[in-house]
Amino acid sequence: MSLTVTVADLNQSASAEEGETVLAALLAHGIGFAYSCQAGNCGTCKCELVSGDILELEYSEHALSADERGRGIVLACRSQMWSDVVVRRLDSEDFVVHPSRVMRCKVAGITNLTHDILKLGLEIVTGGPFTFSAGQYAQLELPVAPGITRDYSMANRPDQPLLEFHVRVMPGGSVSHRIATALKFGDMVKVSGPMLCIAGGSGLAPVKSIVETALASGFAQPLHLYFGARAERDVYFERELDGLQMRHGNFRPHIVISEPGAASSSGTLLTRR
Ligand code: FES
Repeated sequence: MSLTVTVADLNQSASAEEGETVLAALLAHGIGFAYSCQAGNCGTCKCELVSGDILELEYSEHALSADERGRGIVLACRSQMWSDVVVRRLDSEDFVVHPSRVMRCKVAGITNLTHDILKLGLEIVTGGPFTFSAGQYAQLELPVAPGITRDYSMANRPDQPLLEFHVRVMPGGSVSHRIATALKFGDMVKVSGPMLCIAGGSGLAPVKSIVETALASGFAQPLHLYFGARAERDVYFERELDGLQMRHGNFRPHIVISEPGAASSSGTLLTRR
């Protein structure tokens, strides 16, 4: 039976099949609707269910809280249609707005990943819960550099409680050098965020978060990750990428070295996978 989905605030409608999700029907007909993961993890496709019968597929509570659900908010990508449906977008932006938090976090781990990149693990002590979309970043103020803030992308998935940041240690860097040499396990760090841009820190962090989120949510399409580095010594997380590849047949990491060592004669891009 053919159904109809209507976006009330756009005054646009599309036909849909029984069991098709609201988002799939809208996208199939070219109706503009914000979305990202399409798997119930990011919350980008939140909308108000004005009328209609839907069956909700599984989703993460980070994407839609019980309170929001109680107010008639649903995820378009998780809402299967079983009657004509009318929805209304929550806002006209193309991204989800997570509540901004200022948290006190405890240093739970500092690990060297390469000669100049370290992994900083932070445990939220007060100010949470912290919700963010894969690829976002936060602002850190550390006790080893009071009054100075730095922006770093979260490398963990949004549903993982321990925050993970990758820090490139710059020679003489006023913050990163002190993180590497003076920050201790148990130190308290002020974390503000999330910020809405994808930037900062070491380049793999936001991509790692996006890839892990997609794979954990059952993303089944072929997924390639290209990690570009200048030299071998700049590469990190190789083993973790191998592990992801072994666990997910659709995932393929590619590490690309632009300067394969002074001894190398090629000087061209080298795809190692
Ligand atoms: Fe629906 Fe991410 S697109 S929750």
